[in-house]
Amino acid sequence: MSTSPFRPDALAGRVALITGGGTGICFGIAQELGRHGARLMLMGRREEVLKEACEALKKQGIAAAYVAGDVREYANAEKAIAATVAAYGKLDILLNGAAGNFLCPTDKLSSNGFKTVIDIDLLGTFNMCRAAFSSLKAAKDSLILNISATLHYQGTIMQSHVMAAKAGIDALGKNLACEWGEFGIRVCTIAPGAIGDTEGMRRLAPLGADKKIAADVPLRRLGTTDDIGSAAVFLASSAASYITGEILVVDGGGWLTKPAFVDRATWEKLAAKG
Ligand code: HXC
Repeated sequence: MSTSPFRPDALAGRVALITGGGTGICFGIAQELGRHGARLMLMGRREEVLKEACEALKKQGIAAAYVAGDVREYANAEKAIAATVAAYGKLDILLNGAAGNFLCPTDKLSSNGFKTVIDIDLLGTFNMCRAAFSSLKAAKDSLILNISATLHYQGTIMQSHVMAAKAGIDALGKNLACEWGEFGIRVCTIAPGAIGDTEGMRRLAPLGADKKIAADVPLRRLGTTDDIGSAAVFLASSAASYITGEILVVDGGGWLTKPAFVDRATWEKLAAKG
């Protein structure tokens, strides 16, 4: 864990509900929000994973509880909001990070496979936002923070289901930013690139492909969960109080780049020849 550039009390008094918060990027976000004073409720499908995550957070002095549930079920979304308000008296920050992913060519993907990812990522985000509206409105200065991706900015093979889901999340975020701004609810999105040591990378970049991805990223490394956590702390802090509807790409420049015609060493040899 890196030293934070933010004040330790940047999010003091804030309450955050984090879907998918038991593992990976969203656990990293939970940790960063908690390190800066937020009290946390983690939501996910697997109780054991949530329990372990909460214990790890508590060891760091972070107030953390969990509620098991599937964001695809609206009743579970309502249950999670109610549990958060019951535990902490309010909800200031809703972090929608629960996601599903697998590699599959579209001509092999079943209708239910496509629907499953749309349901977890997009419908799940809608369910949580919809169920949280009254609480976020009551909190006045609140934030919905959605986790998207960059893979739909271009065509990404074997990811039609995820591209469609994430594009929908981006659109939903922009809509809600416009509709709910008047209620004091900001709506922002983080689009992470390839983040090392996560379930997503294990699924999407098997067989050492992560090394090639890191070599191709302009900043020449994979992202870390701390990178995404820091972006989340910024967007949740008062420094971002006039930012809404924004999609913050945190990917080391990854999606912008494409394979070079020649590498630098080859160019230097050619240049030396004159
Ligand atoms: C093709 C598949 C498949 C695969 C599942 N399906 N896995 N099809 N290839 N590898 C199909 C099934 O055949 C079924 O369709 C349908 O999807 C539902 O499958 P279930 O296993 O019943 O679904 P469920 O138990 O709800 O599990 C959801 C899941 C699973 C998405 C399939 O992988 C999961 O729970 N994932 C959660 C963790 C996860 O994915 N984390 C990574 C997030 S990374 P049929 O037709 O047979 O009924 C991430 C990064 C984004 O999001 C981008 C970063 C760059």
